[in-house]
Amino acid sequence: MSVRVAVLASGGGSNLQAMLDAFNTVADAPARIALVISDRDSAGALERARALDVPAFVVPVSGRPEAEVAADTLELLERHAIGLVALAGYLRLVPAAVIRAYAGRMVNIHPALLPAFGGKGMYGSRVHRAVLASGARVTGPSVHYVTENYDEGRIIAQWPVPVLTDDTAETLAARVLLVEHRLYPLVIAALALGRTEREAEPRAASFHWLEHAAPDAAEMIHLIQPSPLD
Ligand code: GAR
Repeated sequence: MSVRVAVLASGGGSNLQAMLDAFNTVADAPARIALVISDRDSAGALERARALDVPAFVVPVSGRPEAEVAADTLELLERHAIGLVALAGYLRLVPAAVIRAYAGRMVNIHPALLPAFGGKGMYGSRVHRAVLASGARVTGPSVHYVTENYDEGRIIAQWPVPVLTDDTAETLAARVLLVEHRLYPLVIAALALGRTEREAEPRAASFHWLEHAAPDAAEMIHLIQPSPLD
């Protein structure tokens, strides 16, 4: 049994696509995208999900009480038997009740090396502009557990990416995004394997998947730490 993953996305959903490609079209994958939720009905992520018959829903956030958003989100996550939640370009603060229900089972990807260049308002090209303005020579994505504050949960994995002298926010964003597409499925796979390893069946099929998908990362992935709640 693979771990059923929900992806929350507000935008184009290229990270969602990377996970769909890694898991949903491959036999024996340790995880499977089983639900997509967006706050915007125009989000490209919804189309990408529906193209592969993955259930995709809009939970509007603007102007609604947090309790209502939380109830709608939790109902969807429970109805689809979700074990792990991955935020991928989701630009809203997740309601506290949802974070509590999925504590240690909800992760986010951020396009800079946290704890630098994170926090409220730091998303998309703003992050890369801040990196360029700082003069940093290295940037890269971070995957971290989600807490009630933006970008503050414990860091699970990071992947350094060089900042080049002639970079613009756009060229830098594109270089980091390519690495995000590689890193995020690996982290989700590692977390899924971590969750299922303790269960009765050995996950031999999943380890084959990992070696096939990322032979050079197979070692690294075993070093990824489980959540403190595990
Ligand atoms: C990604 O670069 C992700 O790291 C970033 O939004 C982009 C979404 O792209 N997230 C944040 O900035 C969170 N603070 P995508 O919709 O193509 O996956």
